Amino acid sequence: MKIAVCPGSFDPITLGHLDIIRRAAALFDRVLVCVMTNGEKDRGMFPPQRRLELARLAVREMPNVEAELWQGLLADYARQRGAAFLVKGVRCGTDFDNEYQMAWINQGLAPELETVLLPARPEFIYFSSTMAREMIRYGQKLERYLPSAVAEEIGKGKG
Ligand code: PNS
Repeated sequence: MKIAVCPGSFDPITLGHLDIIRRAAALFDRVLVCVMTNGEKDRGMFPPQRRLELARLAVREMPNVEAELWQGLLADYARQRGAAFLVKGVRCGTDFDNEYQMAWINQGLAPELETVLLPARPEFIYFSSTMAREMIRYGQKLERYLPSAVAEEIGKGKG
């Protein structure tokens, strides 16, 4: 069974993330969305447990996808879960530079781990969690940026 990990901060999960997860779910037997927490003080908008809940809401209709929380090295998580692939989305050259570097760090930590980079679809190139957080802060409509269940949940004021 080919298992892939889609890692990220997911603060919060966006439509851009969901597109990459959906594409990974079509390529691999099983996809684990790994909501990572920062080892240092976490300065996210949403606490890690909330990010996980929102990620779970976003993927609830995808039968071969599940989301989990992980604090630590991504390579350790992948190894522990029997995953041989890391899937990341790439929007631009800066993303590529960062992902290229991380891919080889992860390869060094776990040589069996292959990183698969998927080009972001053009409609999501300008999407980011940073932008989504701005929209939330300024009370803008969230449906354009976030999975509908997530937008609805945050819109309820429970974000
Ligand atoms: O959504 P983000 O913030 O771009 O995700 C970055 C993330 C969480 C995937 C990356 O920082 C990461 O893998 N962190 C876990 C710590 C780790 O394994 N570091 C070594 C590889 S760089």
